Amino acid sequence: MRVAMIGTGYVGLVSGACFADFGHHVTCIDKNEDKIALLRSGGVPIYEPGLDLLVERNVREGRLDFATDLSDAVREADVVFIAVGTPSRRGDGHADLTYVYAAAEEIARAMDGFTVVVNKSTVPVGTGDEVEAVIAKARPDGDFAVVSNPEFLREGAAIDDFKRPDRVVVGTEDERAIARMRELYRPLYLNETPIVFTSRRTSELIKYAANAFLAMKITFINEMADLCEQVGANVQEVARGIGLDNRIGAKFLHAGPGYGGSCFPKDTLALVRTAQEAGAPVRLIETVVDINDKRKQAMAGKVIAAAGGSVDGKTVAVLGLTFKPNTDDMRDAPSLDIIPALQKAGARVRAFDPAGIEEAEKLLKDVDFVTGPYLCAEGADLLVIVTEWNEFRALDFGRLKAALKQPLIVDLRNIYDPGETAARGFTYVSVGRP
Ligand code: UDX
Repeated sequence: MRVAMIGTGYVGLVSGACFADFGHHVTCIDKNEDKIALLRSGGVPIYEPGLDLLVERNVREGRLDFATDLSDAVREADVVFIAVGTPSRRGDGHADLTYVYAAAEEIARAMDGFTVVVNKSTVPVGTGDEVEAVIAKARPDGDFAVVSNPEFLREGAAIDDFKRPDRVVVGTEDERAIARMRELYRPLYLNETPIVFTSRRTSELIKYAANAFLAMKITFINEMADLCEQVGANVQEVARGIGLDNRIGAKFLHAGPGYGGSCFPKDTLALVRTAQEAGAPVRLIETVVDINDKRKQAMAGKVIAAAGGSVDGKTVAVLGLTFKPNTDDMRDAPSLDIIPALQKAGARVRAFDPAGIEEAEKLLKDVDFVTGPYLCAEGADLLVIVTEWNEFRALDFGRLKAALKQPLIVDLRNIYDPGETAARGFTYVSVGRP
């Protein structure tokens, strides 16, 4: 099959490279000339473990190429993916669909023969209908079907998530489109990955419902963590105790400083807006959004309390800035709320992150960025773990103790054992654990 993938962001580039690896011929298209030049020269514009090798191999084997103009690739394509960004629109929280519709118009002009146009971007219910209308208007003679095929991959685990998904969701009732989508996902089909064929609108809603549910699960355990702190219980054991119930499931029950990233904050907000306008408000998710926003803001208070009620004039060492490990993505990262609040309270902040510093420098002011965890701790009054990078999981406590002014760790990700840290002479404050 020949595939045109429009948009080389996270979803587009990972999906494009993986479809090529499935054996299809894929052209990834982006208007950003620098990005395409970088990809053509063997570089990868995003940080994702394993993606550089995957791209390199498929380019070398002739299944993957790149273009800034979509006409040629779309003309030849059996399937055209729209994987452009759908950021939150300023002001109202709705998904901004400008890029989606612009891509649809361009596709309409270029397509030739029966073309399956697939929306992989996360879009509100009904967007598929709009895309269909846009294409039909531009090409009244066009032979095409518009399909919804949301992507569930996580940053940092994107390739594995794409190649070994729990399920694939395909929203279309067009028989020819169903046949092509089946062919496209054939390797997964053979792996017995469930492929859920459904209507386009249902498929669009599934994506939002999945992300909202996961955001709710995290928010639930975060509230349990706060309760645990008040009643002297242990949230990790609560998570294990409930998670072993198959109906609940163990995943996404790690308490922390609140969820961030490119999806949960934007998609929960978009779902809230869509539901309000549809006259069926999702009050549960409205509350989740509110709780999570407040939680990220409240985390600085937790650090200040641990520091004895004030950080004025103190140096706080922050480990981890990205919204989660294995990414350089800073979007809606808890560190963006925590650090300014600590600075406002009079603290000097020194920070280290294995991949996020370049991005963080654009977003945070007056932070002293350093190149390693021990340098970060040197002479600081306390150490705060904000993101659970693997390299923070086995720090040398002897070195840390020597570096810090006082042995105080605030661990917002629960990556250490409270008993062990205490045994090594640290005052250790974590989330929802005695
Ligand atoms: C998420 C969804 O998981 C993915 O299916 C969707 O396609 C895009 O959005 P991603 O944003 O890459 O993926 O990261 P994810 O691993 O889901 O983490 C999101 C946020 O939730 C992070 O800030 C993370 O720290 C937080 N989180 C996650 C928790 O606080 N606790 C958990 O138990 C899990």
